[in-house]
Amino acid sequence: MRVPLIAGNWKMNGSLALVEQFGQAFGEANLSSSMEIAILPPSPYLAAAQTAFEKTPLRLGAQTVNPEPSGAYTGEVSASMLSEFGVHYVLAGHSERRSLYHEDDKAVLVRVQAVLNEGLTPILCVGETLAERDEGRTEATVLSQVKTVFDMLNAQQRQHVVIAYEPVWAIGTGRTATPEQAQTVHAAIRAYLVEYDKQMASTLRLLYGGSMKRENAAELLAQPDIDGGLIGGASLKVDDFLAICQSVG
Ligand code: 13P
Repeated sequence: MRVPLIAGNWKMNGSLALVEQFGQAFGEANLSSSMEIAILPPSPYLAAAQTAFEKTPLRLGAQTVNPEPSGAYTGEVSASMLSEFGVHYVLAGHSERRSLYHEDDKAVLVRVQAVLNEGLTPILCVGETLAERDEGRTEATVLSQVKTVFDMLNAQQRQHVVIAYEPVWAIGTGRTATPEQAQTVHAAIRAYLVEYDKQMASTLRLLYGGSMKRENAAELLAQPDIDGGLIGGASLKVDDFLAICQSVG
């Protein structure tokens, strides 16, 4: 049984007021207790969010982490620091980090390892560009992104990873993968994970991300291998994000 996870990645958006608004709304909301919900605000808001979300089902996540434990890395934040603020999930390999900050597969791997070593849950993001899809290389691209990380983890570590499939062409574009397109890739990832361990493949959660919104969430989340969502734009409006959480079947 896979517990659905809906995670809101605020990217470099939001405010203290928005943190408070989410704390208030989710404190009052009537949501299924058999799902997990997380908000990943920019790191300066983590302390305030930890307090504001205390009496809500919202868990905290972070958008990135530096793989080193501490040291002269100006501007960076370590996994143990995130842990001190109650962070549960940490993204690794988001396409914006890969493209804008040149994080390659190796950089993604060391981040996943740092997060796991701290006892937190990495959300490993994978996804193809439009050119890769047009060239028929969707599965090859996505599976190779999974492989570079999973080959280097032990069996116990693999069980603690969440994977988010985010086609790059669907992120922030309003162009969502159809439920069939998303399901096809999710099924391919799960089939690939069986090569490592059948049990792990059946329990590991696969999220979809890329222009998921209240209008299309239910249909995407109804697919057999889609276990939740990683939401960007629609996680910045409390009503929209609540509606997505409520569409978990
Ligand atoms: P959008 O929902 O804005 O397309 O962003 C998706 C995403 O990148 C979540 O990490």
